[in-house]
Amino acid sequence: MQRIILVSNRLPTTVEKKKGGIHYINSTGGLATGLDAFHQDNECLWIGWPGLSSEHMNQSEKAEIRQNLSEKNCVPVYITRSDVEKFYYGFSNKTIWPLFHYFPQHTFFQPDFWSSYVHVNTLFAEAVLSIATKNDLIWVHDYQLMLLPAILRKQLPDSGIGFFLHIPFPSLEIFRLLPWRKEVLEGLLGADLIGFHTYDYIRHFLNSVRRLLGYDNTFSQISCHNRILKADVFPMGIDYKRFSEVGLMPEVQKEEKSIRRKTGNRSLIIAIERLDYTKGIIQRLEAFDLFLSQNPSMKEKVTLILVAVPSRTSVDSYKQLKKDMNEMIGSINGRHGTIGWAPVLNLYRSLPFPTLAALYHSCDVALVTPLRDGMNLVAKEYIATKQDKTGVLILSEMAGAAKEMGEAIIVNPNNKEEIAEALRVALEMPVDEQKYRIMCMQRRLIRYDVHRWAYDFIDKLEQARALRENLQCKKLTESDCRTIRSKYSRALSVLFLLDYDGTLVPFADKPEKAVPDPGLIDLLRRLNSIKGRKVAIVSGRDRRSLDRWFAETGITLCAEHGVWIKEPGDDWSTTVSQQNKWKDELWPILELFADRTPGALLEEKEYSLAFHYRNADPELAFLRVRELMDALIHLVSNLNLGVMQGNRVIEIKNAGINKGTAAMKIVEKGSWDMVLAAGDDVTDEDLFSSLPKNSFSIKVGIGSSKADFNVESVEEVRRFLEMLCETGVETEVEEEIENW
Ligand code: UDP
Ligand code: G6P
Repeated sequence: MQRIILVSNRLPTTVEKKKGGIHYINSTGGLATGLDAFHQDNECLWIGWPGLSSEHMNQSEKAEIRQNLSEKNCVPVYITRSDVEKFYYGFSNKTIWPLFHYFPQHTFFQPDFWSSYVHVNTLFAEAVLSIATKNDLIWVHDYQLMLLPAILRKQLPDSGIGFFLHIPFPSLEIFRLLPWRKEVLEGLLGADLIGFHTYDYIRHFLNSVRRLLGYDNTFSQISCHNRILKADVFPMGIDYKRFSEVGLMPEVQKEEKSIRRKTGNRSLIIAIERLDYTKGIIQRLEAFDLFLSQNPSMKEKVTLILVAVPSRTSVDSYKQLKKDMNEMIGSINGRHGTIGWAPVLNLYRSLPFPTLAALYHSCDVALVTPLRDGMNLVAKEYIATKQDKTGVLILSEMAGAAKEMGEAIIVNPNNKEEIAEALRVALEMPVDEQKYRIMCMQRRLIRYDVHRWAYDFIDKLEQARALRENLQCKKLTESDCRTIRSKYSRALSVLFLLDYDGTLVPFADKPEKAVPDPGLIDLLRRLNSIKGRKVAIVSGRDRRSLDRWFAETGITLCAEHGVWIKEPGDDWSTTVSQQNKWKDELWPILELFADRTPGALLEEKEYSLAFHYRNADPELAFLRVRELMDALIHLVSNLNLGVMQGNRVIEIKNAGINKGTAAMKIVEKGSWDMVLAAGDDVTDEDLFSSLPKNSFSIKVGIGSSKADFNVESVEEVRRFLEMLCETGVETEVEEEIENW
């Protein structure tokens, strides 16, 4: 296995300076706690921020911290006080965190926060680059470092770079509010693999990529910048073994006895989280208040233990939450409590593991009701500790964990009545039912624990990297060019079969705008006029357009995907003998689809009809294309027609006609030492697969193809043709290549 480098803002160890001394404490939050088990098991490096601003430490303290962290396989990245304010509290926790959790009211869009975010991502990149080699797998974590994959990609183009987002990815309508949304997406797209907790987050992400950057995806695979990358679901697991064994640990048993001594035989409800407005603490307290009012018989019989771990305490919304929470606890305890009973016990601190475990293990109900949560590991940890299988989990449907824990009592965290009722049901649930529900959830948690989660991600990252490398193998290199050039210079007769849109000119939003520039006309004319060279354009365009643009060049033209062919000096001849009446029959159907798909347009060619959806809403177009294909399937078989799906176009034409059959008609007219073909589209695959043996074929763009080589762009095709144009026939070439 390759070396793995983990990178996250928060290290598993946070450094604190108190009373002049340096203290190392375990970090809280799902990322640090969850990933720590994998880190310890694999001894991989972990690069991150130790939690102090650099002004807080002198040089010798920095060196000491670096040394102590290195013993834990951690590498610190130091950031200044100003960056702590603007990058950490600012862009990370006042912009991205609230926005991605659907709290636009807590979200600030400040350019100085953004600049600091860019700067700190660059600092992290420097730290990674000072350590990583191209063979390492680099696994970047979470929303604080979303620009890092692309920054690293520039320096380490061949490395495996993965990214995992531990928080939700919001819907497009929320994400698009971010002024720097494109930069953030481009940052993420530097990775080979982008992981999310749930499929919903992937959907939102892919939708944003498509709508804001215009990159499509096929089965969550995105092609951009001439790379392929993948997004996939990896629901984070926990260190199941550790939590399942807590009941046997003497220090946990001791803590449990102490909890029981203080709470008697009351039913205990546990709620544990960082003090964060996303966790729904206020709504939960309101629901508990309602529960107590509705169930007077529960007086003195139940206690809610609310553990709120201090978090991001400099952010105003967190300060306000603490105030609101304290007030509400005071009011509930004042209203319902008695001399010997406080309905809510509040601990505002981080707990040592034995205390945390003892609380999980001894509480009858866990009330986990975040308003939004990427995953929520607390819910999983609670269930794992319940080896006697008693206990009930009440879980918010807004937590990623709800997707995997359907046997919990699932609630809407905004619905007080529902939570109050869930509490009643939970406290009265028969033991057999508790056992059944817990058993089902535990089975899943055992299978996909944090180790499996991490290895699964690493495994898929290696696959994604290999896929990228495979595709790169077919990239037309300088050495390939020399080989082709060598053959070309000795070939007496060469035929060029060239697609037009996406191969010789880039796509435009409307087909009529993609006209050939004078440079292209000149290039084709020059190439065609070399002795023994013949150029043919094999296009899906109608013959009038091709005539208008290329009539003067003297090249051969093939229009409508092979319906028409025109040799220089001749008239157009058609390969089609059938009637064309079917067009009248299908036109109204296509028109109806186009009318119901804003942005779509119809094109009538002599022997075909095309439904273009390049400018339509992609999701709607996706649906419409499926509907249209469904509607066409019977009609076209009766009429002996074929349907072709091209680059955001559906084309209907007579069956048996394609670019391959048409090109062969041109090939058969001569005897060729060499045939060179280029195209970008699925319709060009027919051309590639019917080429004679002595051919070279080139696909523009990445993705699997029958072509021999891939190039990145129209510009590269044009440079390649220019190179051949300048290559004389039978000139000296440096290399003899035997096998091609
Ligand atoms: N946790 C902790 N100490 C505490 C309370 C909680 O280490 O005093 C841990 C808890 O065990 C869990 C993590 O903090 O692993 C919280 O993760 P979760 O995914 O539930 O929420 P997040 O804080 O990441 O939003
Ligand atoms: C969540 C985030 C983590 C973060 C943690 C604690 O789990 O996904 O990235 O580390 O909260 O927050 P903090 O701001 O203390 O790092």
